[in-house]
Amino acid sequence: MLVLGVETSCDDTAAAVLLDGRTILSNLVSSQDEVHGPYGGVVPELASRQHMRQILPIVDQAIERAGIGLKDLGGFAVTYGPGLTGSLLVGLSFVKGVSFRCGIPYIGVNHLEAHLLAVFLERDVPFPYIAMLASGGHTLLYLVRDFSDYIHLGGTRDDAAGEAFDKVAKMMGLGYPGGRVIDQMASNGDPRAISFPRSRMKSGSYDFSFSGLKTAVWHYLRDRGQRQWEDQKNDIAASFQEAVVDMLVAPTMRATKELRVRRVVLTGGVSVNSRLRIKMEEKAKEVGVKVYFPSPALCTDNGAMIALAGHHWLERGRRDALDLNADADLTL
Ligand code: KG4
Ligand code: ZN
Repeated sequence: MLVLGVETSCDDTAAAVLLDGRTILSNLVSSQDEVHGPYGGVVPELASRQHMRQILPIVDQAIERAGIGLKDLGGFAVTYGPGLTGSLLVGLSFVKGVSFRCGIPYIGVNHLEAHLLAVFLERDVPFPYIAMLASGGHTLLYLVRDFSDYIHLGGTRDDAAGEAFDKVAKMMGLGYPGGRVIDQMASNGDPRAISFPRSRMKSGSYDFSFSGLKTAVWHYLRDRGQRQWEDQKNDIAASFQEAVVDMLVAPTMRATKELRVRRVVLTGGVSVNSRLRIKMEEKAKEVGVKVYFPSPALCTDNGAMIALAGHHWLERGRRDALDLNADADLTL
C-alpha cells in the first residue's frame, strides 16, 4: 500500500510517500527557519501562513518524486496533534479535502507516536525499547512495548531540551534555531570548563527540567558581560551542552536498568546532537544496552514517520471521518 504522509504540526511543512510501511519513495521538508529566525522562536500565525503557501507545492513534489499518481495511493496520513492549532489545521484540512475529493481514506496521526516509531523506517528494533524523544517542543521518555502500546515514563516540567538550546543560543546572539550552532561551537570548547547545575528529580521520577540550567547560563553571561564571555563562548557552549546531555542520559539509562530493557531509541531534533549520541552510546555500552539512532532527517519532523504511523493504523482498518479536529494538546 502507498501512503502519503503530511506533517504541519509546528514550523516544517513536510510530505512523504511510503510504500508498504517501509520504503520511502519521497520525503520532502520545507523549513520555516528563515521566517522565524528574526524572532528567535516560532511565531504561530506566521507558521500557519507559511504552511498555507507550502502545502500544495510540497505535496505535489512528494507525489512527483515518488513517480506515482494520486490515484495510486491507498491512504493519507496527517498529523492532527499535538502542536500549534493553526499549523495543524492547515495540514488536516488539506488532507481531508483531497481525501474527500479522491475517495481515498485518510487517518489522523499522533505526532508523538510517529516519532516513537520513526526508527522502523530504517531497521527493525525488537520490542520493548525505551524511547527518548527530545525536540524543540517535547522532551519525553516512553516505554514502547509494541505498536500502539506506549507507557509514558516522564517528561519535562518546564522547557523542552531543544527549547533550552534555542534560548541559550538567543542569549548568546547565535540565531534560531540554536541547537546545531551550539553543537558546532561545543566541539571546540571544554565541557568541564564551567560547572553548570544538573537538576535532579525525586527518586523514582523520570521527569526532566531545564529551566534552572537556562537561568544559570543567563546569570553567568550577565555577571561577566559580553566582552569577557565572548572569549569563552566555545567553553560556555560545551559546558551547557554537557549539562543537557547528562540530564537526558541519566533518566534514560536509569529506565533501562529499572525496567530491565536492553534497547534505547533516540528521536527528535535534539537527538541529532553529536555529544548526546557519543555519551548515550558510551553509557549504554557499559551496561550492555544497545542504542538506535535514526538518520537525522528521520529524527526531525518529517512526513515519512507520519506515513509510517498512518500505514500501521490504516492496515488495521482504521479510518477517520471528516469531522476529526486538530488537538493541540493530544497525548499518547
Ligand atoms: O524535531 P525538531 O526538528 O522540531 C520540533 O521541535 O518538533 O527539533 C528542533 C529542535 C530545535 O530546538 C533545535 O535547536 C534542536 O532541535 N536541534 C539540536 C541540534 N539540531 C537541532 N539540538 C542540539 N544539537 C543539535 N545538533
Ligand atoms: Zn516533532
